Amino acid sequence: MLSQSIINLTPMNSAELLKINKPLILRPIRSFVHRQAGLSKERERALNTLLTAYGLPFKELLNLEQIFQRAAPITLEIGFGMGHNLLEQAQQYPEKNFLGIEVHRPGIAAVLLGIENLELHNVKIIHADAWEVMNTCIPNKYLDTIQIFFPDPWPKRRHHKRRLIQLEFAKLLQTKLKTGGQLQLATDWQDYAEHILSVLENTSGLKNQAGQNQFSPRLAQRPPTKFEKRGQQLGHLIWDLVFYATK
Ligand SMILES: C[S@@+](CC[C@H](N)C(=O)[O-])C[C@H]1O[C@@H](n2cnc3c(N)ncnc32)[C@H](O)[C@@H]1O
Repeated sequence: MLSQSIINLTPMNSAELLKINKPLILRPIRSFVHRQAGLSKERERALNTLLTAYGLPFKELLNLEQIFQRAAPITLEIGFGMGHNLLEQAQQYPEKNFLGIEVHRPGIAAVLLGIENLELHNVKIIHADAWEVMNTCIPNKYLDTIQIFFPDPWPKRRHHKRRLIQLEFAKLLQTKLKTGGQLQLATDWQDYAEHILSVLENTSGLKNQAGQNQFSPRLAQRPPTKFEKRGQQLGHLIWDLVFYATK
């Protein structure tokens, strides 16, 4: 009887099999939404022609020494927006290599144009979700500095789970820093600042440079960005945080 029923089974196609063996995908909730933004012709051109020169693939571990053809301290900026900080820092510190990660197309285009116009040789960008890039492309103990300035605040309580800075992400960032490497953040949302402080204080291998539970003085080299100015117009204070990797 049993063998009969087995014989009578129609073979499943791969789609049906997949339904049964549906893999459990532990993908974090996205910290961004894709906004449809019209692009100027110049920015369209930048995306179509400059990404191959100044962008990097995000499917494999990166060898930035080879890509930049030199060994130099590496600063990674996550969520660079329109690139004010990234382009400014790359000009200010030609002796360092810079990598930027962003998902927002106008920002990607703006930075590509900036790299071209300023003839910068020390900046590359990746157009992808920082979670994926950190997991796939960045070797452990590789980065001297990670910068995350004005991450999306997701102010509504029901959206807090979308905030980029969560314990799992902080742990991931920690593993990518060299010992002594710095994690620099700023936000203009008080409750997010307190959340970030608490998350980083509870991340093993990170230590607060300003002292336990303290915010840092404003980083001297951090130029005001669009989102910092917007926060100030709303009357918000700005909170800086600097942690370093102890292992
Ligand atoms: C509020 S804006 C701040 C931009 C910039 N840092 C500034 O200060 O002007 C946050 C940026 O982070 C980017 N972002 C959010 N989540 C991201 C992720 N998972 N990977 C890459 N970029 C992300 C957004 O697209 C957005 O441009």
